[in-house]
Amino acid sequence: MPFEGQFTPPGDKSMSHRLILMSLISKGEMLIDGLSDCEDVKTSLAIFRSLGGKAEPEGEALRVHGMEGKWAPPAGIELACDNSGTTIRLLMGILAGRPGRYVLDGDVQLRRRPMERVAEPLRLMGAEIETVQGKPPVTIVGKDLTGIDYRMSTASAQLKSAILLAGLAARGNTTVTEPHATRDHTERLIDYFGGKIDVEGLTMTVAPKTLSLSSRFSTPGDPSSSAFFLAAAAMVPGSRVTARNLLLSRGRSGFLRVLDRMGAKVSLTMVGDKPEPTGDVTVSYDGPLKATEILAAEIPSLIDEVPILALAATQAQGLTVFRQVDELRVKETDRLMAIRHQLGALGARVNSSGDDLAIEGPTSFILPDSLDSGSDHRLAMTLSIALKAAGAAGATATQVPILGRESIAISYPSFDDHLAALWKG
Ligand code: S3P
Repeated sequence: MPFEGQFTPPGDKSMSHRLILMSLISKGEMLIDGLSDCEDVKTSLAIFRSLGGKAEPEGEALRVHGMEGKWAPPAGIELACDNSGTTIRLLMGILAGRPGRYVLDGDVQLRRRPMERVAEPLRLMGAEIETVQGKPPVTIVGKDLTGIDYRMSTASAQLKSAILLAGLAARGNTTVTEPHATRDHTERLIDYFGGKIDVEGLTMTVAPKTLSLSSRFSTPGDPSSSAFFLAAAAMVPGSRVTARNLLLSRGRSGFLRVLDRMGAKVSLTMVGDKPEPTGDVTVSYDGPLKATEILAAEIPSLIDEVPILALAATQAQGLTVFRQVDELRVKETDRLMAIRHQLGALGARVNSSGDDLAIEGPTSFILPDSLDSGSDHRLAMTLSIALKAAGAAGATATQVPILGRESIAISYPSFDDHLAALWKG
């Protein structure tokens, strides 16, 4: 009962957010193909429209009209960022240097997530920002900003992006240095849309500029969504799955390097390279997986894939260790705890000591009465794959309910369709 077949994942969520949010401060218009249809991206689009932005469907595509940073600031209106960390953090950077008073809020999960890491450097640039004990709601009063030279203490692409986007409206250059390489979509798009950005190792410098949208943009497929099925193929004997048109930049493809190290067969056919490298990826089962160590410097390149890689590790021979994954504590849920409890409920030997996550495999799955995703979309998808893998290993797993499973729509509304097409159980 393997996973088998080909699928095209939704457009990348990180790219989709940036295409919409960067249109707020760019000129021109752009026809976007393959924008993600997930709830998080709908949130960014709703905010774009609530600021007066025009975005209209054209066939399957969406035509967006750049606003050049010229919107009528909403009087006392809250911008609802719902569950989306990317929306709120990138918007903080965009709005800090533009006229108006803005209140950015979110749902219960977002209201637990740290915003001071973004507010602090923006204040150094001259921004007026208040948080509520470091969390949303975030109130911003737009000010004239001045560029800074900032060394980030957390490896976060959302933080880096907020500073760079604020830098586009600041006086002078803005430089930011990250502790480890994180996804670089913002840098690539600034360059692609005609901005001036220099990247030297972990340091990037942006000059103030109004960006110009490209007339057409094709959104590459989301590697983080694809990872569930590609990792499933690595785990379940007899499987072979191809994901088409994936975004394959180094900052997003760490999970493929790890699956390869664990002994899966991973093959890539590169298709495009501007502004992002893209290609088709096939992962096949190639014998039992082996444990591996995932170093701190690799973590940002697979941060959203830790839950599904942790599941793969339960089926690998030996001790897999993820180093310094403390950022998982401040994702949609405390993902470190959720992974420990939920994979533990399936019989896995999972430990988190300090900031590391350790999994001893291989595990024979046991089936609890129910599982709880904590309404974390990535946990819900990981647990769905776990139940299929348990089924493949002989358990009658289909009856186990996963609480909060509807959260999957946050990032991957077509997950169940793809699961039905690829799972041959
Ligand atoms: C994202 C960056 C990552 C990732 C999130 C999307 C982005 O968060 O976990 O799902 O689009 O920049 P951090 O930057 O907080 O690590």
